Amino acid sequence: AFPAAFPTYHRAGAAQASGEGLYRDPAAAEKGWIKMKNTVLSLMKMKESREKISMLTCYDYSTARLMESSGINMILVGDSLGNTMLGYPDTLSVTMEDMIHHGAAVVRGCNDIFVVVDMPFMSYQTSVYDAVVNAGRLIKETGCNAVKLEGGAAVKDQIKAITDAGIPVVAHIGMTPQSVNAFGGFKVQGKSEAQAARILQDAYDVQEAGAFMVVLECVPAKLAALISEKLAIPTIGIGAGEGCDGQVLVYQDMLGMFQDYVPKFVKHFANAGEMMVQAFKDYDQEVKAGTYPTEAHGFKIEEEIIEKLKEK
Ligand code: KIV
Repeated sequence: AFPAAFPTYHRAGAAQASGEGLYRDPAAAEKGWIKMKNTVLSLMKMKESREKISMLTCYDYSTARLMESSGINMILVGDSLGNTMLGYPDTLSVTMEDMIHHGAAVVRGCNDIFVVVDMPFMSYQTSVYDAVVNAGRLIKETGCNAVKLEGGAAVKDQIKAITDAGIPVVAHIGMTPQSVNAFGGFKVQGKSEAQAARILQDAYDVQEAGAFMVVLECVPAKLAALISEKLAIPTIGIGAGEGCDGQVLVYQDMLGMFQDYVPKFVKHFANAGEMMVQAFKDYDQEVKAGTYPTEAHGFKIEEEIIEKLKEK
């Protein structure tokens, strides 16, 4: 009987379907895979009730497990993994396979956190068809709950088509890193009247196209606050001030693990980088001094067996 016949019911579909007495077996509602705390509906409700939404990037299973126990609402498997995990200077080289590899690992570590996976450069700009096919791959092959893509008016057809396919879309406007060459560098966007008006129009366009959320990156705080007031969908800021409906940071940035460059908007909530270097140093010293490992870290064998082996 439904849903027992579907033991591997998909997280994303289940999340959207849960909570409305849809299941014949009421016990089914107690199962983890249909009892996710954060859904498109709960996130929209958070905006309505002016409750801030927390989001962090994440790219691997063990970090996802730690975030799962923190109360964070959303994870973004960002294409920033190109910088933070793969050491590229920008996000342009990141592939669909990279996103699927990391996205699936993160999803395996999550129950309640709503997971969004980034669509990499050239996986959606080329055509509406490519956008739907690639968004579908991200959902099917990672088990994530939504996809994110960069751009406003220029990608509204893609957003509409992906949304029409039943895939929730997070839009991303302002300073969109995949356009770094067009911008002439990673620069704050929307300071002039013309730029600010274009970003506001982009915000309206992505909302109208069906995006359920929009990331505002590196735009002036007052512009981000105005957009947040005007839109019905939640805004998530990064370098966009305090007036957004939520916030996202790259987790290595907020933990002080990524020292190549530190953007102005980053706050270090811990100095994990320093702690890690210290731990690596201590390990190095102990291994070299022979103080690690000790007997306590080893496995035992009968002395008799060793004695016999000595004779061979
Ligand atoms: O890839 C990413 O991490 C992002 C955030 C900076 C919003 O898109």
